[in-house]
Amino acid sequence: MKDFYTVVYRKFEDIIKSPLNSSDLLEKVARLLHTDVPHYDWVGFYILDSIHNELVLGPFAGAPTEHTRIGIGKGICGQVAESKSKMIIQDVSDQENYLSCSIDVQSEIVIPILKDGIFLAEIDIDSHAYSPFTEDDERLLEYIAMRLVQFI
Ligand code: SME
Repeated sequence: MKDFYTVVYRKFEDIIKSPLNSSDLLEKVARLLHTDVPHYDWVGFYILDSIHNELVLGPFAGAPTEHTRIGIGKGICGQVAESKSKMIIQDVSDQENYLSCSIDVQSEIVIPILKDGIFLAEIDIDSHAYSPFTEDDERLLEYIAMRLVQFI
């Protein structure tokens, strides 16, 4: 495991221990991941709006995106909300059901945040690198998703 992952785990523990409201906490976590993991070029949270049955963009770090609301089943994010399963796309050009944020994005990982099996939100990460994601990313992001459940 590369050194920066260890640093991210440690900084995450400091953030989650601090007395922050949910939105400030998610923003700090997005900023941490964006700053400290070299291949994370955009990091954001999409939260389920259960009234309109769509995803709403929450705190994020990186360039603003036009995809502030995403229908369930639409794009990678919408598919994860529908299936409640993570998706790791090492090459977005393979994907037909994909919503592009920027021409620079080559890969994407989306991890659901579930409470008792119910979908609440997801962590979405875009990378400008081709095929950058390993088990270390899955482990880190699944751990963060599990720890953040109580704050969504
Ligand atoms: N690419 C995503 C859309 C969100 S942006 O990556 C910020 C998708 O296909 O759902």
